[in-house]
Amino acid sequence: MFYKNFILALVSIGLFASCSTTKDPIEEKVEKLLSRMTLEEKIGQMNQLNSEGAFDDLHERIKRGEVGSVLNEVDPKTLNELQKIAVEETRLGIPILFARDIIHGYKTIFPIPLGQAASWNPKLVEEAGRITAIEATSVGIRWTFAPMIDVSCDSRWGRIAESMGEDPFLSGTMGAAMIKGLQGNDLSDPTSLAACAKHFVGYGATEGGRDYNTTHISNEQLRNTYLVPFKAAVDAGCATFMTSFNEINGVPCSGNPFLTKDILRKEWGFDGVLVSDWSSITEMIIHGYCKDSLEATEKGINAGIDMDMMGEAYISGLKKLIEDGKIKESSVDDAVRNILRLKFRLGLFDNPYININRSSPFYEKAFLEKAKKIAAQSVVLLKNENSVLPLTESVKSIAVIGPLADAAHDQMGTWVFDGEKEHSVTPMQALKDRYGDKVKINYVKTLTHSRDANKSGFGDALAAAKASDVILFFAGEESILSGEARCRADISLPGVQSELLSELKKAGKPIVMIIMAGRPVEIYKELPLVNGLLYAWHPGTMGGLAIAELLFGDIVPSGKLPITYPAMVGQIPIYYNHKNTGRPPLDDSPRINDISPEAPQMSLGNRSYYLDAGDKPLFPFGYGLSYTTFEYKNLKISKSEIGKTEFLTVSCTVTNTGKIKATEVVQLYIRDMYASITRPVKELKDFSRICLDAGETKEVSFTLSPEQLSFWNNDNQFVLEPGDFKVWIATNSADGLEGEFKVIS
Ligand code: NOJ
Repeated sequence: MFYKNFILALVSIGLFASCSTTKDPIEEKVEKLLSRMTLEEKIGQMNQLNSEGAFDDLHERIKRGEVGSVLNEVDPKTLNELQKIAVEETRLGIPILFARDIIHGYKTIFPIPLGQAASWNPKLVEEAGRITAIEATSVGIRWTFAPMIDVSCDSRWGRIAESMGEDPFLSGTMGAAMIKGLQGNDLSDPTSLAACAKHFVGYGATEGGRDYNTTHISNEQLRNTYLVPFKAAVDAGCATFMTSFNEINGVPCSGNPFLTKDILRKEWGFDGVLVSDWSSITEMIIHGYCKDSLEATEKGINAGIDMDMMGEAYISGLKKLIEDGKIKESSVDDAVRNILRLKFRLGLFDNPYININRSSPFYEKAFLEKAKKIAAQSVVLLKNENSVLPLTESVKSIAVIGPLADAAHDQMGTWVFDGEKEHSVTPMQALKDRYGDKVKINYVKTLTHSRDANKSGFGDALAAAKASDVILFFAGEESILSGEARCRADISLPGVQSELLSELKKAGKPIVMIIMAGRPVEIYKELPLVNGLLYAWHPGTMGGLAIAELLFGDIVPSGKLPITYPAMVGQIPIYYNHKNTGRPPLDDSPRINDISPEAPQMSLGNRSYYLDAGDKPLFPFGYGLSYTTFEYKNLKISKSEIGKTEFLTVSCTVTNTGKIKATEVVQLYIRDMYASITRPVKELKDFSRICLDAGETKEVSFTLSPEQLSFWNNDNQFVLEPGDFKVWIATNSADGLEGEFKVIS
């Protein structure tokens, strides 16, 4: 009691407060440096330029103090030369921060992010991030523009390949893991790569899946869906954020202070660097939101964007805006503070240069091992009729056919500026090296690339198929067909791959299709023709070995879809966490051929679905098979009723009912049955990867917190409303053990 009173007394006379506040040394350094900077020097720090194309000029511009960050310079010698100008030839010697898009590996390429998300293994994603950072920082890059955590359920959008899929919770979990891996434990470590959560925000909701397009997002969707992974990124300590190209409800995201100041800075307390996307500040003129570059600059700075990527709006306009009294110099100071803080945190002032004599860490054995592991865990087994997989000893010969069987470049996927195809292990190479002494391989590539329309090789392909016990058909998309600006209205297999498959079918042999692609491709017509289907995304450097070992059962598939797999492109957007509507579809709702000619229009029994495509996807979110089977039993819910501040435990047993050891991703979903605004029919709340020996049973237990049961209502409040909930522990979003509980007030 005495102690408590003593502390209170200290606080009241201000002593305790002054004793306990030690100033952050980095903040002190930032303020000291900032106080010595001229306005021009400050504005220079807010400018980011590309090294390619601007090279001669760049030296001069750095000398004049017009560059705070350079992107896309990866030659360590050149990088040091540029840094030397900044450090030795400018008045204050502020080092340059070098940046690059290193999205899923620098040299050692890991699966595309959508593939990494399919592993449902945040630990591995973090490890891949660490390796990426070790490789990239060795050439002097200290800032990458990853992770991309734009929630999207539109496979037409090319950038879905870069995303973590359609679920806010999964995207946030995987994004946070990548951030931790890239940044390591301490930003000042020379192997730490500052991460960048992008694109803030709503970019994945782009109209019609066309890149850069318009979005209309309600406050409820923004809060409950699109912002969720970004909040997780702030919580994971992400050093930087990037604004997105798109507008939301008429306001481009590079000029929207509600998003960037009110939410990101004030509500979430983000004190890192906010960078625009490439020219996205000046693009606000093209959007029709600003009349000229000066107005775009004003809107950008008022939205709290610290750095202008390649737009050159700030460098040309900020001074005038201050002179004209349109903005205060303190807004520039705020931005420069954030930039200097990051440079100090990264230790750039102490270690501005890269040691060009240090040995290169590229493609180390352990890195390649990890790349194989995550590639293997990213592959999703979608069909396995009569256990065609794994291939058994009775298979003496295999036909290896298709454009992606030996496509060293394409298997790396989108955004691989620095990956080298010479290091890719293709499926063909791996099958030959690893299993070539066990099986005869009849390889006929047939199509040179995925869009190849030349059918002249079909005859040889069929002959090889006939001469083999099993056909392995490597289909998909080239890497250049997904990624930024690579959107497709027709997402079926490009070229004549489908025709080739029909030709192979004539051989009468079991067919396993392996798809490498940057998105779920439309395959409802091809699916019945194949006995097995492995979805490998673009699996990266070691993808071929991972696939070969999966085919032969040396690795057991454990990947699960991070996205609802549409049956037909016309179903898009299709996602598992949709609303119920007032007229949800029924399993026996009539289909197009159930309707007789000149049938009268009906007002009864009408439902929300397509006459031709129904309402079901080809495969649900969270789906993925194994070479074994799992049985879920004994669902237990700790209480049938909980108060609004209580936690709930939900558990069940999972048994491996097959004959081999395997991993299962156990998923927890809830549904808030009725609320002040309607809630999704299912929401993923947690998951757990468990490994089970043949016959083994484990109990899997999850804890649901009040926060996990809450949502943002239309009054912009995060609330837990009393009422009925359903809960599932499940192997995928369309399945599972179902229970219920009540939240009481
Ligand atoms: C534009 C892309 O939208 C963004 O993701 C990328 O980081 C920048 N360009 C820089 O290359």
